[in-house]
Amino acid sequence: MPVPARPVTLNVNGRAYTLHLEPRVTLLDALREYAGLMGTKKGCDRGQCGACTVLVEGRRINACLTLAVMHEGEAITTVEGLARNNALSPIQQAFVKHDAFQCGYCTPGQLCSATALLDEFRAGAASTVTANVRLRPPQLSDDEIRERMSGNLCRCGAYPNIVAAVRAVNDGTA
Ligand code: FES
Ligand code: FES
Repeated sequence: MPVPARPVTLNVNGRAYTLHLEPRVTLLDALREYAGLMGTKKGCDRGQCGACTVLVEGRRINACLTLAVMHEGEAITTVEGLARNNALSPIQQAFVKHDAFQCGYCTPGQLCSATALLDEFRAGAASTVTANVRLRPPQLSDDEIRERMSGNLCRCGAYPNIVAAVRAVNDGTA
């Protein structure tokens, strides 16, 4: 039996969107089809490609794998919210400088994922390839970047330049 739609208020990029949603609507569809925020991309719609990556309370998630109604009251950031005061964020600038995209379809997810990656790394979070979890400050090697970005696929194969962009922001050379 269908469950009726109801108003759901999402806080996206600092703005409240009150949307009329059925409970089965994913966060990805709510953003794209109801809020009109088309920056977040739908690739596989099943958690395999990372094109739909957004930040929820600063943590990266696949928006296709979660329901919009689960995120009322949480701060959601999409690619449209990464720039501040008409200035691209450091990782956005680095993607441009290092030519870290070709068709651009995966890029919004890559940017959100890289933004969270840098925060996770600075907070000292280890990954499955961290050789020494006691080393301070930790080293963000290319292997670390590849592992930490492994949830985001790029069919154009821009991986070397994506790694270079992330490394440059972490090193302060972007
Ligand atoms: S569209 Fe969500 S992981 Fe591919
Ligand atoms: S730039 Fe085309 S899929 Fe990544």
